[in-house]
Amino acid sequence: LKKGDILYQSEFISVDPYMRIYTKDMTPPYKMIGQQVAKVVESKDPDFPVGTRILAHVGWAEKGIINDKKKARVQKAPTDLGGMSPSHLLGACGMPGNTAYFGLLDICSAKKGEVVLVNGAAGAVGSIVGQIAKIKGCKVIGYAGTEDKVKWLKEELKFDYVFNYKTTKIEDTLDEAAPGGVDCFFDNVGGHDANVVISRMKHRGRIAICGAISSYNVKDLVWSAPALQPLLLGKELRIEGFIVSRFQDRWMEGINQLVEWVKEGKLVIRDTVVDGFEKVPEAFMSLLQGGNTGKMVVKV
Ligand SMILES: NC(=O)c1ccc[n+]([C@@H]2O[C@H](COP(=O)([O-])OP(=O)(O)OC[C@H]3O[C@@H](n4cnc5c(N)ncnc54)[C@H](OP(=O)(O)O)[C@@H]3O)[C@@H](O)[C@H]2O)c1
Repeated sequence: LKKGDILYQSEFISVDPYMRIYTKDMTPPYKMIGQQVAKVVESKDPDFPVGTRILAHVGWAEKGIINDKKKARVQKAPTDLGGMSPSHLLGACGMPGNTAYFGLLDICSAKKGEVVLVNGAAGAVGSIVGQIAKIKGCKVIGYAGTEDKVKWLKEELKFDYVFNYKTTKIEDTLDEAAPGGVDCFFDNVGGHDANVVISRMKHRGRIAICGAISSYNVKDLVWSAPALQPLLLGKELRIEGFIVSRFQDRWMEGINQLVEWVKEGKLVIRDTVVDGFEKVPEAFMSLLQGGNTGKMVVKV
């Protein structure tokens, strides 16, 4: 190690859908991007003594040397996690949690009594969106891809209506769960079903475009949409894409609130933990195929 270097050992590596978008058109070999929770195991930087737990963006690596902490976006993890698994720093109390927090409360401006609809509902972001909406007194409708996920969302997370989008027709489910329309639509998925939801929004409804996972593996994507303009106009809808990094200045506001809700037992967190560094690619592919409930992480 040189002066200022730290040697880290990863504890948990995050796999996330955005990795698919950012690397889809890259030509291998390349180093896979991403964030991990790691421990400093050797150090020539007095600010990061051995044993310090860090969050870093250094891609899929078991261990490595970091010198430029800014480039690797290194942050010190809280020293007292109050019994919480450090993996949650990559999920509910990390980037996906903040995506849910700011997306629902700022972009959708969800308010008490409103109808909130979230797809990808059993995932890292979606499961937190629905729970924050419940905390705020909203009626919550969720969509997920397996019966087990549907059961979890209904029974443990207390969503009001949950449907398996693979075995039901979106139009029928909306007739049942939101006959009066949807106030806030948190869209993680995009595609046909999302367009149907947009057609069922209430007047002055708000739509947060968080993700479009239904298209991430589509080759030669054709940009198309049904004629949405008359709907947006007539119902005065607000539709807005967002990337959570825009809330960098308020980052700790979200994290502190999420941690608080976890401590108060208001947020139920579940991770899908895959064991072993060599399984990172497998975990990533499984994530894109719905193999996770809650946040997908790899334990190194
Ligand atoms: N804007 C931002 O800053 C930001 C930040 C984080 C994440 N995101 C986006 O938010 C979304 C959720 O991310 P996440 O990290 O929470 O992932 P996640 O929901 O934990 O995992 C992905 C889930 O997507 C579902 N899925 C896969 N293909 C699908 C399809 N064709 N139609 C419907 N659902 C499908 C699968 O669940 P099922 O079994 O239910 O199909 C899978 O478990 C992604 O679109 C991601 O890109 C955006």
